[in-house]
Amino acid sequence: MKRVAAGLFSLLTLSNCARAPLGYLEGAGPAARSIASLGWGLLGISVAVCLITGALLAFSIFRRRLQTEGLDGGDDRSALRWIGVGLSITTVLLLASAVWTLWTVRGLSDTSRAAAVTIDVTGQQWWWEVRYQSDTSSREFSTADELVIPAGVPVQLNLRSRDVVHSFWVPKLAGKMDMIPGQTNRIRIEADRPGVYRGQCSEFCGMQHAQMAFFVVALAPADFQAWWNHQLEPASNDPNATPQRFFVERCSGCHAIRGLSTGGILGPNLSHFGSRRTIAAGVLPNDPSNLARWLGDSQGVKPGSKMPELHLAANEVDLLTTYLEGLK
Ligand code: CUA
Repeated sequence: MKRVAAGLFSLLTLSNCARAPLGYLEGAGPAARSIASLGWGLLGISVAVCLITGALLAFSIFRRRLQTEGLDGGDDRSALRWIGVGLSITTVLLLASAVWTLWTVRGLSDTSRAAAVTIDVTGQQWWWEVRYQSDTSSREFSTADELVIPAGVPVQLNLRSRDVVHSFWVPKLAGKMDMIPGQTNRIRIEADRPGVYRGQCSEFCGMQHAQMAFFVVALAPADFQAWWNHQLEPASNDPNATPQRFFVERCSGCHAIRGLSTGGILGPNLSHFGSRRTIAAGVLPNDPSNLARWLGDSQGVKPGSKMPELHLAANEVDLLTTYLEGLK
């Protein structure tokens, strides 16, 4: 039954690109598991209350009919007793639900275990800027639309927004948390084991709200360190190479790449772009043909996004595709 319900919900939440289900009934970390247990528990209580209330209603209608037909002699005192019983059960159930909910919420903000990593995530229309914090500033870096985390340890997220209210949600790992302009909201996520977990903006934030997806990739701690070190490696810098020159000329007003001397912050940081799973925050799987499609028709792929139509010639699309996909 649980599996059927989970499958049904997964089916309903399939997004255009990412295809991977959000899976919000299957917790894959401590926070998500306690939320899922609470969800199932409250669902169970609600169903039981509906069934019992329905049965009592049917019983009272039936009983009233018996009384009016003179077959049963009920009295007011017994009716009052039933009301008392109903009130007591309701009070106990509501109190138990409230205590369970508060207890779960308290557990979510538990900071007794030190966070292994702190990541700043900034929501914007309609993608996710991800910045890894370090005590050594030379070890900090930015990426986009993908959070790589070590498995089995808590990860601290500082959530912000650059424009409107968004909401950060990776259902298999944690509950929702709003991203509000001018404010930092903190949340902890933790994955039990390595895997890929889909996330989704869950606060309506404009035209492409539904296409504001991301992924959390949990790696074994040693793999995570190797990944981090790799992120710090700059792209090979040859100002005279045609692909790089073309990128700097046409794209670097908005996009930065580690190792290049110029780069803007309006669009996602494209360092190591070739190793990312998707293009445009989960809209298209990342491969050369999809990248060519995105570069050639960004407004057709994601209408309203800030990525302008570049009106590139076919050979220019090829040039950029080869260059960007080569940034592993
Ligand atoms: Cu961002 Cu909805």
